[in-house]
Amino acid sequence: MDSIQLNIKHLAGIVTEEEILLKSEQASAANQALYDGTREGSDFLGWVELPSSITDENIREIEDSATVLRTRCDAVVVIGIGGSYLGARAVIDALSSSFDWLQDKDKRKNPVVLYAGNNIGEDYLYELMSLLEDREFGIINISKSGTTTEPALAFRLLKDMLEKKVGAEETKKRIVAITDESKGALRTLADSEGYKTFVIPDNVGGRYSVLTPVGLLPIAVAGINIRKLIQGAVEIEKGTSSATSFDYNLPAIYAVIRNELYKRGKKIEILANYHPKLHFLAEWWKQLFGESEGKENLGVFPAAVDFTTDLHSMGQWIQEGERTIFETIISVKQPDNKVKIPRDDRDLDGLNYLEGKRVDEVNKMAELGTRIAHVDGGVPNILIEIPQLNEKYMGQLIYFFEKACGISGYLLGINPFNQPGVEAYKKNMFALLEKPGFEDATRAIKKRI
Ligand code: PA5
Repeated sequence: MDSIQLNIKHLAGIVTEEEILLKSEQASAANQALYDGTREGSDFLGWVELPSSITDENIREIEDSATVLRTRCDAVVVIGIGGSYLGARAVIDALSSSFDWLQDKDKRKNPVVLYAGNNIGEDYLYELMSLLEDREFGIINISKSGTTTEPALAFRLLKDMLEKKVGAEETKKRIVAITDESKGALRTLADSEGYKTFVIPDNVGGRYSVLTPVGLLPIAVAGINIRKLIQGAVEIEKGTSSATSFDYNLPAIYAVIRNELYKRGKKIEILANYHPKLHFLAEWWKQLFGESEGKENLGVFPAAVDFTTDLHSMGQWIQEGERTIFETIISVKQPDNKVKIPRDDRDLDGLNYLEGKRVDEVNKMAELGTRIAHVDGGVPNILIEIPQLNEKYMGQLIYFFEKACGISGYLLGINPFNQPGVEAYKKNMFALLEKPGFEDATRAIKKRI
């Protein structure tokens, strides 16, 4: 097995293979529309053939910029929110040692990657800045629109701190801005300060931007091989082209199944993993599907759990709660490391029956046992298997889910590439903060509080 696999044999009888095949034409037409731009959102299809269009020169420019930050900094703060940080974090967490961030800074091979601008927590920012006091830090500031409040606020604070710490000239070498080619506050600021910049293409939306410099630069800074990541994505891009027949188009099959389950009352999809490093892949996936499909009062609600951890908190609900859920499992065949369970002569914990087995064998049996229990409990199950956690398979997974999301959104009948609902909270927040230009909204909202 040299590629991610899709196992759809455990749908609890709720959708049959025949019913899936009946939708093959619709799914292939939806896939085709991603190439010919004949449906809504056609301005945002730049991600479809993005992996194969990345040139060696593009990669070298990113690698060179990563080298500058890696050489000058022992910590790099990635400032961004939503699609401007989740993809990078998903890959970095999946492919770095779990306790990397605790390593003494002199012993580290790679700068520690930290995150800001994804919340407005005052304590979070205070504590981050306290930590950075004795760090040689740099900043990758990412905002496609260049106007998002959360990252702009974090950047103002960290830029000010960096300038006071290392001076204006050195600061310029340690800041990279990734934003629109010509518009937005971040573009104006970056050009006037003379920062190194990368462009987020107009036709790639935030949540589809992980394979642009948005994701690739932070990932390269973390010491991860972006060439292999891109290669993995290219493999799935090629294997899911508009010429690919439905039976071989795994994202199309996944998209059909989740839509058919949705029509049969399975309104919530739970993405589950048995590998703690995949927590942020699920966060990225939640944004991808949630922001793409949750509109016009429609859309599967994307939820996520980390197993076996959450079997001890959410397991009861999944097993016996309202039967409106289905589960998609990401299963990693081989962990990178081996840990064998030792014998204990007194066996007070009763674990000697596991003597000599690997910890992963226990994990795998927990996975299988849970899967069978959930299917028996009426929870349809989709299994996505990957051989191991490495760059190539992460690249495959990213493109798999992006393609599935585009097809799924079109099958649902909505535009998967806009996010009009995200503006509602911003308008109220600006009105409450009395931002210039929002005077009418301020007057209106004040009457309601
Ligand atoms: O997918 C999207 O477009 C959004 O969720 C954005 O990623 C998020 O709002 C951040 O926007 P920006 O990169 O413009 O700061």
